Amino acid sequence: MSSRVNLLAPKVRMNPYPLYAELRQSAPVSQVDPGGLWAVSRYADVITVMKNPQLFSSEGIRRTYRPPWISNYPMADSMLVMDPPHHTRLRSLVNRAFGASVMTRLEPRIRELAQQIVTALPAGKTVDFVDAFSIRVPIAVLGDLVGIPPSLHARLKQWAEVMTQFTSVGPEDTAPQERIRAAVAEAREHFEQVVEERRRAPREDLVSDLLRARVDGEALTPVDLMGFMFLLLIGGLETTVHLLSGSALKLQEDPALMARLRAEPELIPRFIDEMLRHSGPVHGVVRLVTDEVELGGARIPRGERLLLLMASANRDEAQFPDPDRFDLDRPGPQNLPFGHGVHFCLGAQLARLEARLALEALLARFTRLSLGEEPARWNVSLVIRGPTLLPLAAHTD
Ligand code: HEM
Repeated sequence: MSSRVNLLAPKVRMNPYPLYAELRQSAPVSQVDPGGLWAVSRYADVITVMKNPQLFSSEGIRRTYRPPWISNYPMADSMLVMDPPHHTRLRSLVNRAFGASVMTRLEPRIRELAQQIVTALPAGKTVDFVDAFSIRVPIAVLGDLVGIPPSLHARLKQWAEVMTQFTSVGPEDTAPQERIRAAVAEAREHFEQVVEERRRAPREDLVSDLLRARVDGEALTPVDLMGFMFLLLIGGLETTVHLLSGSALKLQEDPALMARLRAEPELIPRFIDEMLRHSGPVHGVVRLVTDEVELGGARIPRGERLLLLMASANRDEAQFPDPDRFDLDRPGPQNLPFGHGVHFCLGAQLARLEARLALEALLARFTRLSLGEEPARWNVSLVIRGPTLLPLAAHTD
């Protein structure tokens, strides 16, 4: 490949996998547009980068969250953009609070909620599945984690939608900048109120646990806490929503697979793992090169940014035989869809739990899914891929 490819070209976003395969084959580490990022497309190279946070820094991309048009965006204070040792301290503090207790506490509630959501889906009528199904469990779980009551879940969803546009806003895009500033200010105000209330009257919930957490006698600072709550909003919602939308689409495309999962619901966790590998929501993760380095045959100068193409690594033929085939019997689980190394997804178990309970409920009620007349619409992003509109009908016959 001689000239730079544009990963945001509409044709590529429609189906990026053929281009990923070409990159793996002939230019496994190469500069792409937009922005001259170095795309890393092979499994082994992605793992190498993720194992070495000193040379391939997350902290180095923190300035992405500090553009001149906004001050104090809490994502800039989150552990996602920290390297060890700062990251290590924060991660151990939140690990304590975010352990198995979150899962145990949430499981019965998620199960009940999933059943209600699926019962409310009209049989045989086309609806937008993103709105009627995929977002429902993740938004309720997120609301619970950050202490935002159900009456404000619509706001929570709006804040997340506006803020996920953050990294694609240019210096001249004043209208979206204003929308983001307003959403950040509103979310911050609500989150601060929750923190204040839990400080005064702790409950059995994540924010109270975070306030109690100590490592070597040290607690989270108010800035750490706000950064973490914003990180949950950005990292925990859209990802899980896309996983569920992708799963519904897959079940629609493959009625035999849907029938098999209905007959053997114990295979649902394997279906989720293969979904994450084959069509997972996270396509790109960014790192900054702190010293000149050779990777995948390319020499990369210091200060350049890498785009780790997770969705390509997950289809690397050197790692997965016949990688484009969706294969429920593939040995698993595969964890790369959730990252690798120090930043390995904190919510991996929770995301799998949400997806399992939502799909169990869907498969217990409906026998097949069909496409609506209006075509699905897909988002445009280098880092996360999924439908923003998914017209589907669910049938009981
Ligand atoms: C980090 C994927 C759901 C919270 C990550 C990373 C990936 C990922 C690839 C690593 C980013 C990096 O290395 O820079 C996913 C996928 C999900 C999902 C595919 C769903 C299908 C969730 C959920 C939560 C969550 C439900 C919490 C509610 C986090 C946090 C981090 C993270 C806090 C940062 C960890 C750190 O920096 O140490 N996720 N995620 N994620 N994820 Fe997830």
